[in-house]
Amino acid sequence: MYKKILYLFAAAALVSACGQSTPGPQDRLTVNDKQIDKIIAQMTLEEKVNMLHSKTNMSSAGVERLGIADMHYADGPFGIREEGVPNGFQSAGWQLDSATYFPTGSALAATWSEDLAYQYGKGMGIEARLRGKDVILGPAVNIQRLPVGGRTYEYLSEDPILSAALSLGYTKGVQDQGTAVCIKHFAVNNQETNRGSVDAQVDERTLREIYLKPFERAIIEGGAMSVMPAYNKVNGDYCSENEHLLNEILRGEWGFKGFTVSDWGGTHSTMGAMLHGLNVQMTGDNYLGQPVIDSIATGALTEQMVNDKVKQILRVRYAIEAIPDDVANTQMTSQPECQQIAKAVAEKSIVLLKNESGILPLAGGVKKIAVIGQNAVLKTQSGGMGAGVKALYEVTPLEGIRKRAGAGVEVLYAPGYKNFPGRRWGPAPAVKNPLEADAIDEPADKKLLAEAVKLAKQADIVIFFGGTNKSIETEGSDRTNIDLPVGQNEVVKALYAANKNLVTVLISGGPTDLRQLEPVSPAIVQGWWNGTEGGTALAEVLFGDIAPSGKLPFTFPAKLEDSPAFALGNFPDKTQGGDLFTLMYREDVLKMSPEERQAFIDALPKPVSKYTEGSLVGYRWFDTKNVKPMYAFGHGLSYVNFGYGEMSASADQNAVKVSFELANEGGMDADEVVQLYVARPGATVEWPAKELKAFARVSLKAGEKKTVTLEIPVKDLRYWNVSKNAWDLEHGTLQLLLGAASDDIRQQATVSI
Ligand code: BGC
Repeated sequence: MYKKILYLFAAAALVSACGQSTPGPQDRLTVNDKQIDKIIAQMTLEEKVNMLHSKTNMSSAGVERLGIADMHYADGPFGIREEGVPNGFQSAGWQLDSATYFPTGSALAATWSEDLAYQYGKGMGIEARLRGKDVILGPAVNIQRLPVGGRTYEYLSEDPILSAALSLGYTKGVQDQGTAVCIKHFAVNNQETNRGSVDAQVDERTLREIYLKPFERAIIEGGAMSVMPAYNKVNGDYCSENEHLLNEILRGEWGFKGFTVSDWGGTHSTMGAMLHGLNVQMTGDNYLGQPVIDSIATGALTEQMVNDKVKQILRVRYAIEAIPDDVANTQMTSQPECQQIAKAVAEKSIVLLKNESGILPLAGGVKKIAVIGQNAVLKTQSGGMGAGVKALYEVTPLEGIRKRAGAGVEVLYAPGYKNFPGRRWGPAPAVKNPLEADAIDEPADKKLLAEAVKLAKQADIVIFFGGTNKSIETEGSDRTNIDLPVGQNEVVKALYAANKNLVTVLISGGPTDLRQLEPVSPAIVQGWWNGTEGGTALAEVLFGDIAPSGKLPFTFPAKLEDSPAFALGNFPDKTQGGDLFTLMYREDVLKMSPEERQAFIDALPKPVSKYTEGSLVGYRWFDTKNVKPMYAFGHGLSYVNFGYGEMSASADQNAVKVSFELANEGGMDADEVVQLYVARPGATVEWPAKELKAFARVSLKAGEKKTVTLEIPVKDLRYWNVSKNAWDLEHGTLQLLLGAASDDIRQQATVSI
């Protein structure tokens, strides 16, 4: 049984173990250190080492004899994952483990709201505890470097400031519920291609300013208690044994006091992991099990090293009150309070990309709606690998529209195109599903197309649902392009020819190529994979019950080749490296002896990903190189106009501040996300054309005006000076660009810092 007496994690005891005068959130983890040392002194070496690797697929061991509970993990990041069998991911067949499916990462990011991220984290934390989970494997906060990235939908944004704010909100929300986050994947995990072996070669300044930012805030300001090193290498070393990332930066500079957990199958050696910052091998014990004991016997490692690692784990163990077995899983995981949070996030995430002649919201007189496209009925809770959720319920777009339309409006539906179900595992089904395509680029199905056009002709308005699915955008592989799949362009063109009153809704996690669709879509909505209440929220926006207020967290390039890593030929790298995570499950590899396996791995090609675009990620590239995107970062329309009053700006040694009046000039309540970018005319240091530095979501009643103040802490204006190996500030002129999107700047001012 867990010994409550050890649960000393109280605000009153908030004294820094390092003797700093102002302890930060990480220091809350050290309040039990003295007691922890005494407990460690009672443990055998075997008991200690037993804590350094998996016990089951989703737990690592405590010490029953001493009342130390096991540590239970759950994926993450947008719903507590279905319970699996002890030694794998297969379903355990439980009845009470249906969870709330929260909007996926890029949808959360489209809210541009740290508060909503906090609520989201809170919902995840509540449901984790109901399931007896101590650690959520999330948030997933890597920068969306590639439009094709398999995990773009899981990650937040292409921008570090936006990602960091959401990462912080999520972390605090989870941890305030007494559950730990395991923020992932640390670091520079921006592609799935060769993810288990690729070496991300990134310069130090870019690493600090772009790729580490979302982690840094969650660790330092949010007190994130655990961290998952990524599968890939960074500058030569695997993340799970990367001295620079784990020991120098995470523990050294950021003061991290908790523990690290390798990604599943992402531990690579005993010595590397022990010396360079890993605490727990997930899964398996071939590196951090008996070999640790053997290495201590030979003198290669010391027992003190093990003690230090155990201490870091126990700090979290005692900060998180263990949930007794007879208390966990006594009620359904999904809770109404959390479903409401999922709905609130979905409502604020939907992005109105285009709205010609005010075709949206749907006019009151609409009596017949043709909903076309399988993405209107596909459930999106599962798929995409680890981040799938067994949702208690999921309102699809079609269900949401039907419910909202009510009795007086006829809602017709046709699939329009075949669904591409992704790579097949095992033999093809005996009876082919007529609604499934064999190939992603299969042309439109003539019969489905004709049926859809027939409905379109009869309707007052057509709502076309396009986009991708979670077999196309998924962990484990990147897309080969961003084209709309399965002949969708052909379908939408035919629909438009039949009925000019057409709205397109894109259901996807990442950007798609809209060059063909855009000219035949008077209105375009980015609808995301939007969780349990996604269909409800979408219908509210389409019917104008609420005004859309999401803004793009990433750039929609006109064409893939315009985006930086592609333009520079940095991606894709043609080397076939072999994904070690996948190798872990390959029967021939599993049968090898440890020595044979190592030799096999050593002989694999060594793929590389060069980050020569530096900090010119996403809009930073498009702006600096004057490349016009299809839709710019930060873009998103409303049903009302917002007036931006004159901006006043000031700067002192702590912060740059701007104030202005924002007016809702429309006839309905609406939110606007205001964005403050910074340019540096005359700087000697190289900078992107402009960078986001502050933003706020502002709610305004119809006709209301508010004074909005945005603040940029001066420390956020620094750059990483490689010659000093430190943050540095270049004094000079700052141009402040205030706007509604990165390409819609409404006010400008200059200040000196
Ligand atoms: C993923 C992690 C996930 C883990 C456990 C890995 O494949 O990269 O994000 O938390 O599996 O499911």
